[in-house]
Amino acid sequence: MDDQPTLQPTLDEHLAGQAAVGAVIASLARAAIELAELIAAGPLMGITGRAGGINAGGDRQTDIDIAADRLMCAALRDAPVAAVLSEESELPELLDQNAPLCVAIDPLDGSANLDNNISIGTIFSIRPRGRDVLSSFFEPGIAQCAAGCFIYGPQTTLVLALDGSVDIFILDRPAGAFVLIRRSVRIPSDTPEFAVNASNRRHWNGAVRSYIDECLLGASGGRGEDFNMRWIGSLVAETFRILVRGGVFLYPADARPGYHEGRLRLLYEAHPIALIMEWAGGTASTGRNRILDLSARTPHQRVPLIMGSQRAVREIDVLHEGFELRFESSDAPLFARRGLFR
Ligand code: F6P
Ligand code: MN
Repeated sequence: MDDQPTLQPTLDEHLAGQAAVGAVIASLARAAIELAELIAAGPLMGITGRAGGINAGGDRQTDIDIAADRLMCAALRDAPVAAVLSEESELPELLDQNAPLCVAIDPLDGSANLDNNISIGTIFSIRPRGRDVLSSFFEPGIAQCAAGCFIYGPQTTLVLALDGSVDIFILDRPAGAFVLIRRSVRIPSDTPEFAVNASNRRHWNGAVRSYIDECLLGASGGRGEDFNMRWIGSLVAETFRILVRGGVFLYPADARPGYHEGRLRLLYEAHPIALIMEWAGGTASTGRNRILDLSARTPHQRVPLIMGSQRAVREIDVLHEGFELRFESSDAPLFARRGLFR
């Protein structure tokens, strides 16, 4: 009779019945709406994008990083959170020690891309508080009960891993609310597409080099098909693409000084993104270990991250079995071929 669009639930409706986890996500979403406005207006709201200093992990910190950190941490102080670990602070901050959850957060990932008007985002990881609040952060990634990322791009979106499923929401700006647009996303399993910063090829280990070299050979190589390549340089945007299009993303360890454990951070980048991947039917690995099985030793620990469609990630894992790890000097190859392959 009428052709009214089907009403999709808002994030608040979706979170009904989720108690503490729902309250944390709703609070972060309110902060993300404010941050999206600030990012969209940029210089019109006094955002210069200029560096203000160096953060705890040694990355350049801009005025928008500082604003994002302030907004997200304020949102978490209003939520049932016992402690928060932010990329921008050296140590976790204790909030309400009796609250049931701990949150690790990258308030604004890829902020250097803002200058180029490329999508950036907020990544968060939520886990139950253990008896000792701070040691909760050092439990393996499977301890997470929810994770997600907000992406400030052409659309402001939320990718949410909750209750074993991954759902995508889009910000309805006039309504000031996130609305569900895709439920239970499944990563396509056979997309011949890879994402890697290929300028680092000479520093990679043999396994990563073999895989990418084969992809580049296309239909004439061992994989028997032509591959496409993408590199946005923005983890949240790459994650979104993998969710909707499939393929594989690699930020491997490499031989450059400071990259022996990769670039990305375990607690607020790799763990939450790995949960998203697994709950959407994909996987995430270091090449040797499942990311969700790893525990951090230090708050800002880095880790190699290989994620996406199961088949591609498994193939890269198998290639790693043929290479042994070696850290001889900063400019020597990181891996050498093992026995049989020599
Ligand atoms: O962690 C920051 C980040 O910008 C990620 O979003 C992205 O995947 C990566 O760094 C890009 O690194 P590079 O500039 O070395 O390619
Ligand atoms: Mn980051």
